[in-house]
Order: sequence, then C-alpha cells, then structure tokens
Amino acid sequence: MSFDRLAPHYTWMERALAGPRLQRCRTTWLEELAGCRRLLIAGVGHGHFLAACARRFPTAEITSVDASAPMLAAARVRARRSAPNFSRLEFIHASLPAWQPPAAQFDAIATHFFLDCFAPEELARVVLTLARAARPSAKWLLSDFAVPEERGWARQRARAIHATMYAFFRPIAGVQARRVTPPDELLRGQGFALARRQTSEWGLLHADLWTRG
Ligand SMILES: C[S@@+](CC[C@H](N)C(=O)[O-])C[C@H]1O[C@@H](n2cnc3c(N)ncnc32)[C@H](O)[C@@H]1O
Repeated sequence: MSFDRLAPHYTWMERALAGPRLQRCRTTWLEELAGCRRLLIAGVGHGHFLAACARRFPTAEITSVDASAPMLAAARVRARRSAPNFSRLEFIHASLPAWQPPAAQFDAIATHFFLDCFAPEELARVVLTLARAARPSAKWLLSDFAVPEERGWARQRARAIHATMYAFFRPIAGVQARRVTPPDELLRGQGFALARRQTSEWGLLHADLWTRG
C-alpha cells in the first residue's frame, strides 16, 4: 500500500469532495483528550487532525506514524506552521503492523480514516499492535466510513460511495481491502468499550470514542 502518488493531491481532493465533513469527524471527540500526555496518531496522512490536536494541547507529546514519506512530510509542514512547541512532535516513517511502537506508552491512540484501508486479517494485526502501545486506561479516537445496518436509501447510498472509493483507492494507493471491516469486535477484544459514537451523512461517517480501563 502506498499513498505516495496521492500525497500532492490529498488535501484539495478532500476539500473538493467532502468540504469540512471529515475534519469535523476527526475532531468530534478532541476535548476528550484533555489530560492525555502522550498521543499516537496512526496513518497521520496530511496531518489535519495532528495540527488541531497539537494546537489544542500545546504540551502533549504526539507521535505520528505513516507509511508514506510524502504524506508524513505534508503533516510535518502543516504542524510546523500551526502548532506551538514543534520539538514535542515526533514523526515516524513506518508501516503498521510491522512497526512495533513501545508497549503501554500512550494515553490515547487516534486512527482517522485509516483502519478502513485494511482487509480483515491485517486489520486484526494493526489493532493488536496499536492496542499494545496503549496504556491500560487509554482512549482511542477513531473516525471512518461505514455502511448503515438498516436497509433503505441511506444504505444504498453508502454502498455506492464505498464502491466508488475502493475502486479508486485500490489501484491508485494499493489498498488491499475491498470493503470496510468494522473494527468494533477487535477493539472490544483488546479491552476497549465504545463510549460515544456520532454518525453523520446519513450513517456514511462515524466518529467514535473508545475507552479502556
Ligand atoms: C486514507 S489516508 C487517511 C489519512 C489521515 N488519517 C486522514 O484522516 O486524512 C490513510 C493514511 O494511512 C497511511 N497508511 C496506509 N497504510 C499504512 C500502514 N500500513 N502503516 C502506516 N500508515 C499507513 C497512508 O499513507 C495514508 O497517509
């Protein structure tokens, strides 16, 4: 999987196709991170969440990891422009789940529009790797695309949008997944419980807060 080719276009594409909707999802539960000292953002992409988070919590130590060097570079530029105390921000060019973060170090994990890139087996390994890096009482902020369970036009609409997205991302970014695999059972298996969930766009998007301990 490589988002390198998409990196120069990622921000303008998001703005054109989704306006502020994805950033609204990413930051829905931002305030819940108050008091967290060490944060890990997996698949940081262009760093829109990182910038918001680093501005809101100017002393938090934030580690961002991404498999794409150009995506990570864009996140670094954005954070340097907008976040105070740049030296507390760490950027790691690595691929999960091969990259093994230090165990039980992070008060919070954030995965925004990241877990939907993985097919079920790989997803299980990624969730396990990130859960191991989380402290026993950690929080996990997650936003992603979803397909509403109830039959009807909202489900049909979401299915059509998902099909279009995967048809685009599979050849361009080498995404292996063919559809979204909900990570809920995997998170529960690692001791996390769903504390809050906000859905939007008729069930197409959801923003979750998961807590452990
Ligand atoms: C769909 S983008 C989402 C980026 C960002 N989180 C956002 O909210 O816009 C997925 C990101 O995950 C990164 N990525 C994909 N597979 C990865 C992996 N196995 N390990 C680390 N990063 C990965 C990609 O390079 C890309 O930046």
